[in-house]
Amino acid sequence: MTPPPIGNSAAARDIAAVLHPYTDLKAHQENGPLVIARGKGVRVFDENGKAYIETVAGLWCAALGFDNERLVQAAVRQMRELPFYHAFTGRSHEPMIRLAEMLLERAPAANGGRMSKVFFANSGSEANDTAIKMIWYANNAWGRPQKKKIIGRVRGYHGITIASGSATGQVANHKAFDLPLPGFFHTMCPSYYHAGLPGESEEAFSQRCADELEKLILAEGPDTIAAMFAEPIQGAGGVVVPPKGYFAAIQKVLRKYDILLVADEVITGFARTGNYWGSQTYDMEPDILVCAKALSSSYLPISAVMVNQRVFDGLAAKSHEIGTFGHGFTYSGHPVPAAVAIETLTIYDEIDIVGHVREVGAHFQAELRRRFQDHPLIGEVRGIGLIGAVELIEDKAARKNFDPSRKAGPKLVKLAEANGLICRAMVLDSIGFSPPLIITKEEINEMLDLFEKTVDDLAVQLRREAIAPVA
Ligand SMILES: Cc1ncc(COP(=O)(O)O)c(C=O)c1O
Repeated sequence: MTPPPIGNSAAARDIAAVLHPYTDLKAHQENGPLVIARGKGVRVFDENGKAYIETVAGLWCAALGFDNERLVQAAVRQMRELPFYHAFTGRSHEPMIRLAEMLLERAPAANGGRMSKVFFANSGSEANDTAIKMIWYANNAWGRPQKKKIIGRVRGYHGITIASGSATGQVANHKAFDLPLPGFFHTMCPSYYHAGLPGESEEAFSQRCADELEKLILAEGPDTIAAMFAEPIQGAGGVVVPPKGYFAAIQKVLRKYDILLVADEVITGFARTGNYWGSQTYDMEPDILVCAKALSSSYLPISAVMVNQRVFDGLAAKSHEIGTFGHGFTYSGHPVPAAVAIETLTIYDEIDIVGHVREVGAHFQAELRRRFQDHPLIGEVRGIGLIGAVELIEDKAARKNFDPSRKAGPKLVKLAEANGLICRAMVLDSIGFSPPLIITKEEINEMLDLFEKTVDDLAVQLRREAIAPVA
């Protein structure tokens, strides 16, 4: 391995000091970081002042862009008023109470009516871990201690802590981490593009997905299965949009065996899909809903777990018996991120975020398809609202992806950087889009112009490599 560069640049200091998440740690010692210094609107700027449009809002995060002064001021005001307090042993404070109220007012329909209570955590992973523990706890309260298994989906993403990482259905999160834990299972990914059979309608494919789920439940024993976790759209798994009728068919099976549904709305919450919640776009009526990221436009870390009345009653009964609900984070409901989240939701209302996403999202989806549907290097173009993906493909007719060793996705990301775009390559060389929700039609056009050039650059590079293969 080459030694780290000598000198005091941010890159050299990064290489010497930082252990990065989701990075090839050895390659990073040679490649170094991209150091981002500041942001404005839908753009970020590196340490040399070069501008990039952030096509995924960081990590599906900065919904209000990278320089919203009102969010800054909300944090400053709260820091002055009450910079920290906690929620253990019944302690409370106004920002946490108000944010819980606002979330319940905006929550989608839940199984059995409406959401009843909100628990706060700091990240999507913590929120999903919390949901798993709540489900186990509630099942103990309901006198069925054997009903504890959790079903996720192949290509699903629910985080990386030990339990949420077990619900996640991606190889990189399991391999060498000794995950998933026993008691976690994964049903098939609803990718109609890859798994649909010749002549099979989307509805028939959805029914097949539900039949597969039922087979798994019957094989394991319905009395042992507690819950299923599902993102309305699988985000980090490559933006897999559910086929028609999917959640109706899935929920029918879950209800038949009294299995709870957790909607993981960490990416899809707060208008991303053109409704306030992805659950509304795809007719999900979850028992538990998890959200994060756009909740505070990610200016400060905060996540939330909403539970319906039935789950809350189970938690309440057991905690009363034991004497406490023995779960919670020091920073659960921290007043400063809560104040930023309140301001974020207030701004969403003021700018009619749902109306805006519907309008610019329709333009984004139409342009994505018009420009890339027929491109020889692109298989499926998919998405809804302001979330989308194009999938790079080696053989369009056969729907055959590139061999991972070709690194088509990572190469595109590198070329995009040179063209002033930050892109994200995911499973099967799917390039995801999830720009800040405040993006305009003009900015969408600019982003897609640059992306079109990038895909053409990639085509040239791959052709060159085919003539003179790189070692
Ligand atoms: C759907 C979903 N759930 C959970 C998570 C995990 O969130 P975090 O990285 O904040 O732990 C993510 C992160 O991208 C996500 O997309």
